[in-house]
Amino acid sequence: MKDNSIKIGLFGLGTIGGGVAELIMGFPGRWKERLGVDLILHKAMDLNPDNASRLGIGQDQLTDRPEDITNNPDVDIVVELVGGTGAAREIVTASLNAGKPVVTANKALLATHGGELFSYARQRGLKIAFEASVGGGIPLIRSLREGLGANQITQCLGILNGTCNYILTRMTNEGAGFHDVLADAQRLGYAEADPSFDVGGTDTAHKLAIMAALATGRLPRLDQIKVEGITSVTPLDISFAKDMGFVIKLLAVLQIHEQQANLSVYPALIENSHQLAAVNGPFNAVFVHGDWVGDIMLYGAGAGRRATASAIVADILDLAREKLSGGSSLPAAALGRADFDPEPLAISSRDDISGKYYFRFAAHDKPGVLAALAAVLGDNQISIATMIQKGREQEGGAVPIVILTHEARESAVLKAIKAIDSLPVVDHPTIMLRVI
Ligand code: HSE
Repeated sequence: MKDNSIKIGLFGLGTIGGGVAELIMGFPGRWKERLGVDLILHKAMDLNPDNASRLGIGQDQLTDRPEDITNNPDVDIVVELVGGTGAAREIVTASLNAGKPVVTANKALLATHGGELFSYARQRGLKIAFEASVGGGIPLIRSLREGLGANQITQCLGILNGTCNYILTRMTNEGAGFHDVLADAQRLGYAEADPSFDVGGTDTAHKLAIMAALATGRLPRLDQIKVEGITSVTPLDISFAKDMGFVIKLLAVLQIHEQQANLSVYPALIENSHQLAAVNGPFNAVFVHGDWVGDIMLYGAGAGRRATASAIVADILDLAREKLSGGSSLPAAALGRADFDPEPLAISSRDDISGKYYFRFAAHDKPGVLAALAAVLGDNQISIATMIQKGREQEGGAVPIVILTHEARESAVLKAIKAIDSLPVVDHPTIMLRVI
């Protein structure tokens, strides 16, 4: 710290970076009151010069050379908001190398290179703060790391992608088409630069990896997470789910049983009475079970300029306080541990996973078909809880038959679907969704 101020170096002035610049520059009195010194946006870099001029950032605050920020002796804290895992990784490493703590919202970077970056930060005695990387404006990282620090976390169910939740909510409420609502989500600033990261489930998987690291102390490899997105969720399945009292949401699932974790991202049916069913639009929520606290739910805006900037500036304030006090105020990376454990997380096998399932079969409407389907399910110890068959349009044509199961083993479910899809009376591959 020089001249009684904390100086920020900011990489990226897009949707989120622009929000951070606006928040820092817009409330000088608030920061002075909270820190006792000025908080200043000292240098910023963005490839698009229009972004800076729109924000009223002067030429003297701008640079096009990353080292003018990472190696600038006046910069106290570096904020990385460029996204991706290439330039962002270099920025974080160079900043740590120059002795500067870093704030990032980059879930892809942390999920992919977090092990290496956190370990380097620890060696250098520095912090990487990442509250905005999961759940946007929800103080989820702090809650898992600090508020739930006394618990063994056994389950987290998260709605962690605002774009997907916005799309599914509008498909549910208005019967809108997937592509129309995706375009709206992009326009509103919820989506990633490449929206296939959102709708394909990758963004949720990155966030799940970070959440799992906080809950278990071990950062999973991304290939340990089973990922399905929402591109194959149809209005027909949404409508069947509605008829049976469920909504469909893209969920990040972390379940820990006998030291083994099930890490999955998939669209799931959630009963209307579950708290997560009421999480709509771009909102995010995480439903956590801790062995002492029981169930809790954290809810709020998970994407967008203002909410994400709120979390980033909270991290900046923490690091600024730490700098000003000369001490370490920000706790370690994971629950009760000094850092993420380099040992990989043990993952449950399919044989150990069980749950309730939704099937939509496309089967011919003629005598004996239902009995054939039921026989395969019965042979695989899968018990039917509910069944709906919609009326046929023409005799002998395929009709949707929807079944909800009682608790069944996932390995048996996959085996049964394979057998059913090979029956001559079944026209299309079966749709399978999990039920929470
Ligand atoms: N694309 C992300 C989302 C932004 O839709 O949730 C926040 O990480």
